[in-house]
Amino acid sequence: MGFCFRSIASSGIVAVFLFCSLCFTSTDAFDPLDPNGNITIKWDVISWTPDGYVAVVTMYNFQQYRHIQAPGWTLGWTWAKKEVIWSMMGSQTTEQGDCSRFKSNIPHCCKKDPTVVDLLPGTPYNQQIANCCKGGVINSWVQDPANFASSFQVSVGAAGTTNKTVRLPRNFTLKAPGPGYTCGPAKIVKPTKFVSSDGRRITQAMMTWNVTCTYSQFLAQKTPTCCVSLSSFYNDTIVPCQTCTCGCQNNKTQPGSCVDPNSPYLASVVSGAGKNSYTPLVQCTSHMCPVRVHWHVKVNYKEYWRVKVTITNFNYRMNYTQWNLVIQHPNFDNLTQSFSFNYKPLTPYGTINDTAMLWGVKFYNDLLSQAGPLGNVQSEFLFRKDASTFTFEKGWAFPRRIYFNGDNCVMPPPDAYPYLPNASPRQNISILSLLLALFVSLTFSCLYI
Ligand SMILES: *[C@@H]1O[C@H](CO)[C@@H](O)[C@H](O)[C@H]1NC(C)=O
Ligand SMILES: *[C@@H]1O[C@H](CO)[C@@H](O)[C@H](O)[C@H]1NC(C)=O
Ligand SMILES: *[C@@H]1O[C@H](CO)[C@@H](O)[C@H](O)[C@H]1NC(C)=O
Ligand SMILES: *[C@@H]1O[C@H](CO)[C@@H](O)[C@H](O)[C@H]1NC(C)=O
Ligand SMILES: *[C@@H]1O[C@H](CO)[C@@H](O)[C@H](O)[C@H]1NC(C)=O
Ligand SMILES: *[C@@H]1O[C@H](CO)[C@@H](O)[C@H](O)[C@H]1NC(C)=O
Ligand SMILES: *[C@@H]1O[C@H](CO)[C@@H](O)[C@H](O)[C@H]1NC(C)=O
Ligand SMILES: *[C@@H]1O[C@H](CO)[C@@H](O)[C@H](O)[C@H]1NC(C)=O
Ligand SMILES: *[C@@H]1O[C@H](CO)[C@@H](O)[C@H](O)[C@H]1NC(C)=O
Ligand SMILES: *[C@@H]1O[C@H](CO)[C@@H](O)[C@H](O)[C@H]1NC(C)=O
Repeated sequence: MGFCFRSIASSGIVAVFLFCSLCFTSTDAFDPLDPNGNITIKWDVISWTPDGYVAVVTMYNFQQYRHIQAPGWTLGWTWAKKEVIWSMMGSQTTEQGDCSRFKSNIPHCCKKDPTVVDLLPGTPYNQQIANCCKGGVINSWVQDPANFASSFQVSVGAAGTTNKTVRLPRNFTLKAPGPGYTCGPAKIVKPTKFVSSDGRRITQAMMTWNVTCTYSQFLAQKTPTCCVSLSSFYNDTIVPCQTCTCGCQNNKTQPGSCVDPNSPYLASVVSGAGKNSYTPLVQCTSHMCPVRVHWHVKVNYKEYWRVKVTITNFNYRMNYTQWNLVIQHPNFDNLTQSFSFNYKPLTPYGTINDTAMLWGVKFYNDLLSQAGPLGNVQSEFLFRKDASTFTFEKGWAFPRRIYFNGDNCVMPPPDAYPYLPNASPRQNISILSLLLALFVSLTFSCLYI
C-alpha cells in the first residue's frame, strides 16, 4: 500500500488510490513481485516414543528475495495439551518454564508456549543436525539456494503417540527477527519421503504437517525503511528522498531519535549500539530512512546507456549481511552487464522480464556496513537500447519500483523527476508519469491477484 498511497494519492488521483487500497486490503500479505513467497515450516514425525514423538522441524524460505539475517529467527507455538519438550537438537527454547512437577528426568522445556531459537555456529557436533546452527540466519531462495532452510529436532512428551491421538501445535509465530510474518494453522500433509544418501532406499515420516507463514511489510513496521533519490547526467538537479519519508527529526517530542554524524557523542552512541538490532538508530537526515538507494543515469552511448546505483546505510545499528535489491525497470530485459552486483531476472508473470534481483559479490560488497564512511555499496548497469521503447523523456530512465531486503523503497513523486532541458513542460510530464505509474501499479498490484 505504501507505494500506491505515496506516489499516487499524494498526486491527487483519488480513484487510483481507492482501487489500489481495495486490492491491497483484500490481500494484506500479497507481494506482486513474489506472489507465491512464503516460509513453510514442516514437521516430520520420525518416530513415536512411549509418551510422544520425535520430530524434525524444517523451515524452508520459499521467498525469492526476502531473507532472515542476524540476529535470526525466533519460532513460537502453543501446545494443544500438556506437552513438554524432553530434548532438542540444533536449537533450544529461550525459557525452560516451570518443570517442578518432574522429579527425576527434567524436560528441556515445560512451557505451554515455547519459543525456539537456532543455535550458534560452532555448536559441538553432538548437538547438531543437518541445516542447523546458523544463528537463525536463512538466505533467500534465489540468492543462495544451498542455504534456504533451517532445521532442528525436538522430542515431545505427554503428546499423542499415534497419528490418531497426536494433537498438532497451534498458533505459530515466526519473528525474523521482528514482526511481519503471519502463520496459518498446521495442516496434515502426505508423509515426507527421505531418500538415503546413496539413493538406494526410501524411508518415510510417520506423519507430517506443514505450516505456511507469509510476510507483510505493513505488519513489520508502520513507517517505510528505505527511500529512493534520483539524478541524471542531463540535469544538475539531484532529486532527494522526500522529507520525512521514514520519520521526522523532532527534537521536542523525540530527542535523540537520530544521531548527528558531527556530534561529539557519535563514538559512544555507535559503540553502545553494538550488535545488529531490530530497532534502527539512524543518522540525522531530512528523510530519516535507515537505507537510501540512489539511481543515477550516468552515460548515454549510441546503442547503450549506463546507470549507477548506490545503496547507502544510515543505520548505526545494522550491518546488512547478504543484502539484496529488487529493481523494476522496463529495460532489464536488455541488461548487458551488471558490474559489481550479482544479477538474476525475476519473472513472476512469465514473459514480463522487467524485474531484477541484485545482491553483493561474496567477500567484495555482500556486506553493507553500518552508517559511516564504509556504509555504502555501488554498481553500474549497462543496458542495450531498444529503439522502440528507449527515451530519456517522461522519467522513463528511472526505476518503477525498488525493494531493499524485500521492503519497498519510497520513490520521489513523479512530477519531481529530473527532466531533459528543452523537454515538454512539466505539466505534461507529470501527467504522463502518472499514467505510467498508474499502468505499472495496476498491472503489478491488481490484475494478478
Ligand atoms: C509456498 O511456496 C512454494 C514455493 O513457491 C509454493 O509451491 C507453495 O504453494 C506456497 N505455499 C502456499 C500456501 O502459498
Ligand atoms: C494414520 O495412519 C494410517 C496408516 O498407518 C493411515 O491410514 C491414516 O490415514 C493416518 N491418519 C492420519 C490422520 O494421518
Ligand atoms: C490461538 O488461536 C486461536 C484461534 O486460532 C485463538 O482463539 C486462541 O486464543 C489462540 N491462543 C493463544 C494462546 O494465543
Ligand atoms: C509441505 O512442505 C514441504 C516442504 O516445504 C513441501 O515439499 C510440501 O509440498 C508441502 N505440502 C503441502 C501439501 O503443501
Ligand atoms: C534538532 O537539533 C539539532 C542539533 O541539536 C539541530 O541541528 C536540528 O536543526 C534540530 N532539528 C529540528 C527539526 O529542530
Ligand atoms: C558492524 O561490523 C563492524 C566490523 O565488523 C563492527 O565493528 C560493528 O560493531 C558492527 N555493527 C553492528 C551494529 O553489529
Ligand atoms: C531476462 O533478461 C535478461 C537480461 O537481458 C536475460 O539474461 C534473461 O534471459 C531474460 N529472461 C527471460 C525469462 O526472458
Ligand atoms: C531486448 O529484449 C527483448 C526481449 O528479450 C528482445 O525482443 C529485443 O530484441 C531486445 N532488444 C535489443 C536491442 O537487444
Ligand atoms: C532539471 O529537472 C528539474 C526537475 O527535477 C527542473 O526543475 C529543472 O528545470 C531541470 N533543469 C534543466 C536544465 O532542464
Ligand atoms: C502538453 O504538450 C502538448 C504537445 O504534446 C502541448 O501542445 C501542450 O501545450 C502541453 N501542455 C501544457 C500544459 O503545456
